[in-house]
Amino acid sequence: MTHPLPHPGRVRPRRLRATPAMRRLVREVDVHPRQLVLPVFVREGLDAPRPIASMPGVQQHTLDSLRAAVAQAADARLGGVMLFAVPEVRDAVGTQATDPDGILNRAIAAATAEAGDALVVQADLCLDEFTDHGHCGVLTSDGRVDNDATLVRYADMALAQAAAGAHLVGLSGMMDGQVGVVRDALDQAGHDDVAVLAYAAKYASAFYGPFRDAVESQLEGDRRTYQMDPANRREAAREVAIDVTEGADVVMVKPALAYLDVLADVAATSQVPVAAYAVSGEYAMIEAAAAAGWIERERAIRESVLSIRRAGADHVLTYHATELAGWLAEEY
Ligand code: PBG
Repeated sequence: MTHPLPHPGRVRPRRLRATPAMRRLVREVDVHPRQLVLPVFVREGLDAPRPIASMPGVQQHTLDSLRAAVAQAADARLGGVMLFAVPEVRDAVGTQATDPDGILNRAIAAATAEAGDALVVQADLCLDEFTDHGHCGVLTSDGRVDNDATLVRYADMALAQAAAGAHLVGLSGMMDGQVGVVRDALDQAGHDDVAVLAYAAKYASAFYGPFRDAVESQLEGDRRTYQMDPANRREAAREVAIDVTEGADVVMVKPALAYLDVLADVAATSQVPVAAYAVSGEYAMIEAAAAAGWIERERAIRESVLSIRRAGADHVLTYHATELAGWLAEEY
């Protein structure tokens, strides 16, 4: 009888998969709690945390429950938290974003007080939660997003966030020039120690759907004139190069799972750390399928974050961060 291979049995990749110990020995990437960042939402004017229907298990926090979530994140030895806030009052220019007493700036102060040196406290630097039209910037009289007028607001927002104690500001608005303007504003005010994370390759994605619930977004229409076209891979390299030239300390690819090719490209050439954001829709898909009994929840969460690490992310923003870190702690 003839064998299908010239040297039957000599080349057997399965040997390295035969036992848990062997698989553990040869594993190429790991996930550590320090590589996980928890995004959290704070809502002004709540008496108690409020569940977000499209993100089962995620809440809009009060300032008190935020502090508890930050304390848990620190106990879990996460890398950091990323703060988003929903103000009670919105207007055309997002005044609450730059008010030192605005809910996001108060949340930053509360989180830094709670976290001490244990976490990198990060804040979303974007106007969409604060504007009554829901766009990430201010508008021209004919309703288009005014890039350069928005930069002035971002610079002020960065100063308010730095004054509140933010360690890192996350620029998620996709305005041209935002990194340079914010870096200059921070430096001129003596905040040269505050780091800038650029959402460098942020795509106009359907996977942000549940987030819009979480922040009670007022947006009608879409963000396609400033966020990237999902068809474009090469363009991500351009966005990253611009942001690094302007002074970005960390760059991000977002969403994560549907953009692992982009993430792998960026990670292969980046001279700065690379983050990836497993966004609200990725979270909701896992939770919904798991709740229906169609996938194993814990395995799906672990596998998706592992895949994002394997594609090259140094750290991962995920709403599962604290829970996942708890599972990981049992392994090391
Ligand atoms: C903008 C911002 C968004 C997300 C993070 N920052 C929404 C958007 O661009 O429409 C989405 C995060 C998620 O979906 O989990 N401030």
